[in-house]
Amino acid sequence: MTWDVRMRNNMFRRLPVEQATGRLYGGRHRLRVVYRTRDLIVLGLGVMIGSGIFKISGEQAATTAGPSVIISFLIAGGVCLLAALSYAELSSIVPVAGSAYSFSYVAFGEIWAWVVGWALVLELLLAASVVARAWSLYATQALADFAVPVPSWLAGVIGQEKGFDLFAFGILVLLITMLATGSRLSLRSLWFMVMAKLIVIGLVVATGLKFFHAGNLTPFVPPEQPAPDGATTVLDALLGAVTGSKPGVFGIWGIFAAAPAIAFAYIGFDLIATASEETDDAPRKVPRGMLTSLAIAVVLYVAVAVAMVGMVSTDRLDPAKPLLATAFGLVGADSMGKIIDIGAVLALTTVILVVLISLTRVVFSMSRDGLLPRPIAVMSRYRVPSRATLVAGGAAVVMSQTINVLTLEQMVVIGTLFAFLFVSAAVLALRRDRPDLHRPFRVPAAPVTAAATILATGWLMLNLKVQTWGYFAVWMAAGIVIYLGYGRRKSQMKLLLDAPPPDRPVAAPMDAPPPGVAPFDGSFAGPPQGGGFPAPAPGQYGAGSRPNVPAPESPYPTGRYSVGRRPSGRGPGEPYERAPYRPAEGYEREARAQGGPGRGRYARDDAAEQPDDPYALDPGVPGPFASGPHPGDRYSAGQFGSNPYEGGRYGTGHHARDPYDQEPHEDGEHEEPPYPGGRHRR
Ligand code: ALA
Repeated sequence: MTWDVRMRNNMFRRLPVEQATGRLYGGRHRLRVVYRTRDLIVLGLGVMIGSGIFKISGEQAATTAGPSVIISFLIAGGVCLLAALSYAELSSIVPVAGSAYSFSYVAFGEIWAWVVGWALVLELLLAASVVARAWSLYATQALADFAVPVPSWLAGVIGQEKGFDLFAFGILVLLITMLATGSRLSLRSLWFMVMAKLIVIGLVVATGLKFFHAGNLTPFVPPEQPAPDGATTVLDALLGAVTGSKPGVFGIWGIFAAAPAIAFAYIGFDLIATASEETDDAPRKVPRGMLTSLAIAVVLYVAVAVAMVGMVSTDRLDPAKPLLATAFGLVGADSMGKIIDIGAVLALTTVILVVLISLTRVVFSMSRDGLLPRPIAVMSRYRVPSRATLVAGGAAVVMSQTINVLTLEQMVVIGTLFAFLFVSAAVLALRRDRPDLHRPFRVPAAPVTAAATILATGWLMLNLKVQTWGYFAVWMAAGIVIYLGYGRRKSQMKLLLDAPPPDRPVAAPMDAPPPGVAPFDGSFAGPPQGGGFPAPAPGQYGAGSRPNVPAPESPYPTGRYSVGRRPSGRGPGEPYERAPYRPAEGYEREARAQGGPGRGRYARDDAAEQPDDPYALDPGVPGPFASGPHPGDRYSAGQFGSNPYEGGRYGTGHHARDPYDQEPHEDGEHEEPPYPGGRHRR
């Protein structure tokens, strides 16, 4: 097998950063820009503040950490803040819907991207299902607390921990329908519900602090006890094997042992990254929105934990009961129970809503890249990814009704932490491989911070149950099988690399690199190890004069990586707008980053000759983004005595339909020109 063919089939092929930014996606695969910074903060609070705030502080205080659960909240919040810094940097470079999946694609290659994307799908599918179940429990409790009569036939199908549950089913179907039809109601209702739940949390904290007794905080770190059966963590198992010790709860270890469960409460800040493509000026606003919402969430969670453990001694709490409401009941503030019911129902509604949005975006991104069936990633007439919403939402409905998801909460955590590991490692990898990238947000002291994040995240993962790791391994193994059977063959990157190289020589090698790109030393040391672009055959694309040969058909697929059609509204013969995007630069730089040719196939040949226009497209090197000649470009019509490109693919006549273009346009939808794109578009 030739090196060329091996490269195409290489599972480590990496997505060039310039392509991942989504600036080049056509209208069919382009998300609408709807969010501002404050929407992102609301989105973050919407998803972070859910069942965790009403349940986890009491639960972990009663079972694992005692009053020192306050420290556990700070530890888990600190780890999440560390991870959020990495998310913030990568979102500022690659502001796309795939979040950790896309970051891994550009940093590590396709197989790792798939693995991370698959873990995200687990996190989000399960989060939607678990929280829908919890929603049903709280809604049923609310009906009871407000003495709403419930017919007996209904009583058997609501508030169920497993089996069919009408409330869990109903809330999921309602929200999926809202999202799939592009209802404007979703953002407005999110704002309303988040504000309402913040008011409830304010009331909980204020009332709790009224009953605060410092004596309830002692002993702050209760003495260690043997852990109940069935809760063995990986760390317990490892320590048991090495030292023969038995797992315990409370004590100093209890503080750390509670942190992974508490991480569930903070889950959600990472999901803000999935809104990047829909955010105006995402490279700046996404980091801001993410870090602000997480900081607010840490303050709120710690405040609720202080109120909770300050109200009653933790040994009086029964973990089997709704703990916050029980604590208020014990101090005589029974009416708070009803307020908590309302707050919980609102809070959980927003969690499900945002989780479903993010799940849809991740599935949309993976489908757009061809790793899942590509038709899923088509925008509907509602201008939202309705198919992705229905597919992902449908899976969440099925999961919530068929599996005992309430026992699988830790699976949400392990999926999230797994993504944290990759995201922090991706910061280091991209700092090394692409130091030239503009980073509107930079992780402070990146090597130390990212390494600390990896260690802290790894530590939290070790504190998850052995059973959770086992289920996770099964899920990931299934994912690998699916990738090998489908994504590996259907990947858009594979289509791109499968395309034959352009059948034309390129003229003089580039004399000077484009601004911001490190000079290439001209050497090409052979095939890259990890993935990348096919090497040119010796001499095929080397220096030389341009012969007067007709331009080849583009070898590249349209759709994601190119725009093969003239944008609507532009008449024949009219030029395309100038592109702010710099395809040759992106490709060449990426090719070099992946060890591929710095000159030749992806090189520009005219940089030195056009100092005023260093990014003019070379129509003879169509690249995956080729769309046509540009006014002022070296090869635009009129510059050649007999322009070999005129009237052909690169001329001013019709554009040939690209044979790779796979999907018909939906009614009323048009492939748009590749620019202005990404964060600059409206
Ligand atoms: N952080 C979310 C919650 O606590 C998942 O419900």
